[in-house]
Amino acid sequence: MIFKYRRGNPIKTDSTVMYIESNNELDFFNKIIKDKKILFDIDENTFVYGLGGSNRGINKIGYTYTSYCSDDPVHTEDKTSLYAAQNFFVIKNKKDIFGIFIDSPSKITYDVGFTEIDKFNIEIESEDYDIYYIKSKTILDIVKEFRKLVGRSYIPPRWAFGYGQSRWGYMNEEDIIRVYDKHYENNIGLDMIYLDIDYMDNFKDFTINKERFPDLEKLVKNLKNKNVRLIPIIDAGVKIEKGYDVYEEGVKKGYFCKDEKGNDFVGSVWPGLVHFPDFLNKDAREWFGMKYKYLIDKGIEGFWNDMNEPAIFFTDRGIENMFSKIEKYRGKKDIGVFDLWEMKDSFMEMNNSDLDYKKMYHNLDGNIINHYNVHNLYGYNMTRSAGEMIEKISPEERKLLFSRASFIGMHRYGGIWTGDNFSWWSHILLSMQQMVGLNMCGFMYIGSDIGGFSGNCSEDLMMRWLEFATFTPLMRNHSAIGTRNQELYQYKNINKLSSIIDIRYRLLPYIYSTFMKCVLRDEMYFKPLAFEFDDEISIRIDDQLLIGDEIMIAPVYKANQNGRIVYLPEEMKMVKFKESNVLCEEILEKGHHYIKTELDEFCIFIRKGKKIPYANIAKNESEVNFDVFNFLGYDNATYEYYNDNGIVREVSEKYIKTI
Ligand code: GLC
Repeated sequence: MIFKYRRGNPIKTDSTVMYIESNNELDFFNKIIKDKKILFDIDENTFVYGLGGSNRGINKIGYTYTSYCSDDPVHTEDKTSLYAAQNFFVIKNKKDIFGIFIDSPSKITYDVGFTEIDKFNIEIESEDYDIYYIKSKTILDIVKEFRKLVGRSYIPPRWAFGYGQSRWGYMNEEDIIRVYDKHYENNIGLDMIYLDIDYMDNFKDFTINKERFPDLEKLVKNLKNKNVRLIPIIDAGVKIEKGYDVYEEGVKKGYFCKDEKGNDFVGSVWPGLVHFPDFLNKDAREWFGMKYKYLIDKGIEGFWNDMNEPAIFFTDRGIENMFSKIEKYRGKKDIGVFDLWEMKDSFMEMNNSDLDYKKMYHNLDGNIINHYNVHNLYGYNMTRSAGEMIEKISPEERKLLFSRASFIGMHRYGGIWTGDNFSWWSHILLSMQQMVGLNMCGFMYIGSDIGGFSGNCSEDLMMRWLEFATFTPLMRNHSAIGTRNQELYQYKNINKLSSIIDIRYRLLPYIYSTFMKCVLRDEMYFKPLAFEFDDEISIRIDDQLLIGDEIMIAPVYKANQNGRIVYLPEEMKMVKFKESNVLCEEILEKGHHYIKTELDEFCIFIRKGKKIPYANIAKNESEVNFDVFNFLGYDNATYEYYNDNGIVREVSEKYIKTI
């Protein structure tokens, strides 16, 4: 059952696809809502799950989170906002269980037992919002109802479940060809190579730097002949440059966000000075989305949308403020610590400043709206713009699309990656935990930069990270310019690393089939044990995950370990992989086990009475035999197998066979 409460006159977010009549008289709402605040009592037996890709653990209790899409690349434990803003969560305690979705694009702060250990306090900045209360028997049922409310999740082509190599710093065609050749020579599986901003002419969207990429179409074609796709980045900001068609058209048609004087708003990102397309304006969305055709016509089949919080490095306002602080102290004798900090703060404040967001305006259905109040809708609508138009351009075949910023509703148009993480062991765990909240909020095609974006990745970190990422639908190795090169062939034990990729391809029929069933049935691909088992141990475990209905994973995510303690909530069959093959299998009893896994070994645990398909070794999605495979797991089990041609847009039960 879904109930809705409406306060005031909320801005249309298009997050939901179902109409629910509001019922403000409901006792439940009257108990929890006090103006712009919502309050729940919590105790040591309360669990709060969800909030998309937010920081910290799977159970959100003990911290505060602010829904506000933020370009913050340093995901330390103290951060309250990351790139996504997703306002759905489930509360479970001894007496009750229910889901809440706050449909409001404004800043929302969740203080989950942080300030007061027994209170979960929510503060919505806006006066106007919708709240949905979802009641059902189990967490999974609540998630299912919620997902029906917000609509079916985006599905990429099947090849997008292969392995992808990315790096900011592939400067030209030769670099790309080298990446392909090195994977080929070293027998490393590969389906995608990503183009970061350097393929563009001066970082201008929908342009190609002809010196570095003299014939992109040919390059795309040559790689496609080898079944490898090139996936370019598209940034939100459009460079201000006379003669550049996207800029000139946008200005002429009035499709850019405005400033308080009604001029096109100016910010600075990678290309220098930019205007931001007004993705909240339907016409602007169609216009920008159709621009992707320029690259699709060159054979491109996928995109990643970036800098779409939107990130603003600085504006004139910020620069002026900085100089005014410097002028204030210039010549002053005895500059004190606080003076220095004031100057320093004026530098730090420039990046992604609310003072700038408050000076930016949108045209939403003819109404002029301040950006700050709808900030969280920006990245969502950029990806919606691309998703809607790409579907028009390619109605029969799916294309790959994912974004950095997101909001519920965007899950219908694309996937996401979790943004700029670090080469830190703790970020393997963070990534695992983020996957759960994202799935709950409808984001299914998800993954994190494998090996970490910032910082330098060691071979052992890469190995362990890959072992976990074998199960993320988006499996992409990505890193920042200036960091240690982290393509798998850069390390000593290339074979050991590539054999993990081999296992990914061997499990592809399972991974894809599970993904498709979860999208079709509004189920979760990644689940914590607590969603299926209610024993005292399972409900507290936050470093093991169930994948679909058949397997559990318990990745090693700490340095210098040759195994870890794993809890089995029921009897399971452990299958250990090494050197592209199954090393051993063993049925293990319910309970705690120390599972030894050397650096190049990893396990899955097949649930009692289940089996999963296990294919041939392949180096590319096209080489996987999706019709013929063996099984891993329990004999006499059956498996519901989803198998289509990997590109049809239709998703249907008719593609499922019990085998
Ligand atoms: C942002 C993106 C990152 C990309 C970089 C350069 O930091 O998050 O993935 O490599 O910009 O485009």
